[in-house]
Amino acid sequence: MTKIISLAKRRGFIFPGSEIYGGLANTYDYGPLGVELLRNIKNLWWKHFVNKRSDIYGLDSGIIMSPKVWQASGHTDSFTDVLIDCKKCKSRIRADHLIENHFEKKGKEIKVEGFSVEKIKDIIDKEKIPCLSCKAFDWTKPRQFNLLFETHIGIVDESRSKAYLRGEIAQGIFINFKNVLDSQSPDLPFGLAQSGAAFRNEITLGNFIFRTLQFNLSELEYFFNPKKQKWQDLFDYWKKEMWTWTTEILGVNKKNLRWREHIDNERSHYSEKTEDLDYNFPFGGFKELYGLAYRTDFDLKNHMEKSGVDLRYTDEKTREKFIPHVVEPTFGMDRSFLVCLLDSYFEEKGKKEDRVVLKLKPYLAPYKAAVFPLSANKEELVKKAKEVYEMLRPEFSTAWDDRGNIGKRYYSQDEIGTPFCITIDYDSLKQNDVTVRDRDTTKQIRVKIEELGEFLKEKIKT
Ligand code: GAP
Repeated sequence: MTKIISLAKRRGFIFPGSEIYGGLANTYDYGPLGVELLRNIKNLWWKHFVNKRSDIYGLDSGIIMSPKVWQASGHTDSFTDVLIDCKKCKSRIRADHLIENHFEKKGKEIKVEGFSVEKIKDIIDKEKIPCLSCKAFDWTKPRQFNLLFETHIGIVDESRSKAYLRGEIAQGIFINFKNVLDSQSPDLPFGLAQSGAAFRNEITLGNFIFRTLQFNLSELEYFFNPKKQKWQDLFDYWKKEMWTWTTEILGVNKKNLRWREHIDNERSHYSEKTEDLDYNFPFGGFKELYGLAYRTDFDLKNHMEKSGVDLRYTDEKTREKFIPHVVEPTFGMDRSFLVCLLDSYFEEKGKKEDRVVLKLKPYLAPYKAAVFPLSANKEELVKKAKEVYEMLRPEFSTAWDDRGNIGKRYYSQDEIGTPFCITIDYDSLKQNDVTVRDRDTTKQIRVKIEELGEFLKEKIKT
């Protein structure tokens, strides 16, 4: 993890948030290479789950919605974590993480998320779990803490009214359900998808971008008629879809993944069944990458009750009106990003030098190709290489490097996952071709300059 964090900073993937002011805990910024990788993941998600399917529509609702949305959805009451403070060093921690971390050190995996405050206190007292920072055993009473990020609407103090930044993307979907019915007349089953920033007032153990205050979330609500389809069948269907996305499209090694069902107290207030797709992270082993929940008709029913607007679906044939049920696959995009970095990171022994290589799927890589003149001080080579670089750039994200020797340039591109390095040498001037070196095999072939575009297109297609 330390190596990934250092690479991410050094090569411009991820920077600590507000760094010049001493930083702001649990916030990060994406750098020039990070933003490319993140966008590639997000765009691919959209293409795969929205554009390629005829049963899923996209949406883009606001980050700030009426506070009534969060009251109706149950988030103002139930979207909570149990926190505890160390009286000695004043550090604050999520009590479930404190307990889970304690048992992890003993080689036991337990889940206490959703346990009552009393039960949590009992475990901490019984196990005499000390503070992670100062090792004292001097805790305040555990208490519930709401995760919704508060903000205020209105510029004049008296007219200020409390609002929330969205804690999940899903609510923007539920409150637009009727608008989509009225404008698109979709047949059930159908899905609504949305991708964007979500905010949670998280207290974390500081595992890089695993848990942050602001994060990128892509969610999909799949609505169906519970009289015509069994939720279990749809749940299984989406489990398979999520698995395909993770293993085949992101290319994550199956060995590092597992499904885990939530125990009763752990499940969110809206869910009747939840399974997490866990990844084997280098900090503390298997942890949630994505989630899949059967939310029943909980959300639409509550919004219909609280808003007074009829959110029922009308069956065209039978004219029956009913509230559809929903299965929700949810995908954290920052965790996808982190997993792509972790899972593609390799250290390899070379004949001359060892190398670090990110074996990202070519379509995910920040740069698809890098162009080098064999020598930086040979004008004719630089001119030809610039022509190739300018030719590729409009279509492929392409890097330019003329520093140091070719070997160093290869290693520098390997470390950021560039799948193809293109060198213009003296033969290029005579033959109008280049060497293309493959990141993973390190093998080189010659390709005609006029065929380079087609060559790259073929290699980076999804
Ligand atoms: N609508 C369902 C929902 O929000 P969740 O399990 O609370 O479910 C969904 O969150 C996904 O968002 C998680 O599977 C995870 O990938 C990601 N996630 C949740 N909290 C996060 C945080 N604080 N920082 C980064 N990613 C987070």
